[in-house]
Amino acid sequence: MVPDLKEKTAETIAVIKRRTVLKPEIGLVLGSGLGGLGDEIGQAGVSADSGDPAGPCTIPYGELPHFPQSTAPGHRGNLIIGKVPQSGGKTVFCMQGRFHYYEGYSMGEITYPVRVMAALGIRTLILTNAAGGLKPSFTPGDLMLVTDHINFTGNNPLIGPNADDFGPRFPDMSKVYTPELAETARRTAAVLGIPLREGVYLGYSGPSFETPAEIRLFQSFGASAVGMSTVAEAIVARHCGMRILALSCITNLAAGILDKPITAEEVTETAGQAGERFTRLVRGIVKNL
Ligand code: HPA
Repeated sequence: MVPDLKEKTAETIAVIKRRTVLKPEIGLVLGSGLGGLGDEIGQAGVSADSGDPAGPCTIPYGELPHFPQSTAPGHRGNLIIGKVPQSGGKTVFCMQGRFHYYEGYSMGEITYPVRVMAALGIRTLILTNAAGGLKPSFTPGDLMLVTDHINFTGNNPLIGPNADDFGPRFPDMSKVYTPELAETARRTAAVLGIPLREGVYLGYSGPSFETPAEIRLFQSFGASAVGMSTVAEAIVARHCGMRILALSCITNLAAGILDKPITAEEVTETAGQAGERFTRLVRGIVKNL
C-alpha cells in the first residue's frame, strides 16, 4: 500500500472536497462508546448534509475510497467534518468510530485515515479510547491523559517501504504525546472541575481480553491502562510530524484485579456513561488549542 499512498489519499480527499469546503485543522478519533460528540459536530450550525458545502457533513466510511469499514461494537463508521460546538468555531475531521488490528485489517489499513488527515494538512490529532485500568486506584468512568505508550501489539504500522512523502524511515518516539497539548488538557480539566488521571497506555492486539498473568506483566512494565487501539495511529501520526493528544476512558479494571469477567457490553456502557464528561473535556480542550 505504501508506494501509492500519496495517490490513494488524494483520491479520498477528492471525495471529501466534493462534500464540503470546510478545512479541518484538528483530527479527532472517537473510541468505543464515545461517538456522541460526533453527533454534536454533525448537527452544529446548519443541519448535517443540508447540501450547503459550508455546513457540516457526515460521510459514511463506505463512501470514502480506500477506507475500511467499521465492524467493532460501539463504532459507527462515519467521517464527520464540522465545527465543535462551544469551541470558538474550530473545525475538526472527526472519526465516529475507528479501525482496529483485531478486525483483521492490516496496520496500514487501520492507520490510513491518519494519512488522509496528514495529506489534508491537519497538524493536530486527538485520539480517544476505552481502556482497562491497571491501577487498583482507578475507578471505571475515570478519564486518563495518555503520557506515553507501550506498543505491545506485536506489529508496527511503519514496517515495509517507508512512505517518504509523509515522514522519515526512523521517526523519533521520545515525545509521542505532545507536552504542550497535555498541559492544555490538564489546564482545561482543572478549570472544568473534571478529574484527570495520567499514565502510560499499553496497546494490545485483542480481540481476547488479557489474562490476569498478562495484566501483572503490564503492571510491572509501568503501564496504567490497556486497550486495543491508539498506538498504531499515534505512531503513524508521529511519522507524519503531527502533534498528538490521547485520552482514555477507563471503562473497567483489567483482568484479575477484580474477581469478575470483563465484557464488551460493560466497556461500551461505562464509556457511554462517562460520555457527557468526556465530551465536555474534549470540547474545552479543542477550544483551548
Ligand atoms: N482490555 C483491553 N482493552 C480494553 C479493556 C481491557 O480491559 N477495556 C476497554 N478496552
